[in-house]
Amino acid sequence: MELFMGNKHILFLALFFIASWGMQLSAVSATTKIRFGSNVLGNVSLNCHTKNGDPWTKVFKPFNGESWEISEATFCNVTSDEKGFIDTFAFYDPKRDSVRCPLSCLWDAVDFGVIGRPDEYLTPPDLFLDWKKTKSCRQ
Ligand SMILES: *[C@@H]1O[C@H](CO)[C@@H](O)[C@H](O)[C@H]1NC(C)=O
Ligand SMILES: *[C@@H]1O[C@H](CO)[C@@H](O)[C@H](O)[C@H]1NC(C)=O
Repeated sequence: MELFMGNKHILFLALFFIASWGMQLSAVSATTKIRFGSNVLGNVSLNCHTKNGDPWTKVFKPFNGESWEISEATFCNVTSDEKGFIDTFAFYDPKRDSVRCPLSCLWDAVDFGVIGRPDEYLTPPDLFLDWKKTKSCRQ
């Protein structure tokens, strides 16, 4: 019985260390790498805002992409010269993405819309947004 209790304590301590190590890791990776790329003809413009920051826009020429670090919830819409428009969506949601794509979150403009995939180009996309022909401008 004595020995059994001892083992339990060791197990508890081990879990405690694993948990605090995990918390340190997530504190260190407070920023996540985002990449947006365009695989469509014509310019694609990514228009975004955060809760408190100024809105920003990035324009992607055909078959170009860019990576940058992101740290707070960001909402974007996308306009493609050739394909149409995608209404505001959660481009980076810490609640969703700290689990879904802790290392890098990838977005690509493709023929049928914008697709999101976690971490690797080999990982199948798990988020799909279709081009609309018109802007609803609800924002
Ligand atoms: C596409 O974007 C580039 C860079 O922002 C710009 O120089 C170019 O004029 C744009 N092309 C069109 C057709 O809007
Ligand atoms: C697209 O997003 C930008 C930045 O958040 C916003 O200013 C703009 O109103 C949005 N456009 C539409 C049509 O929703």
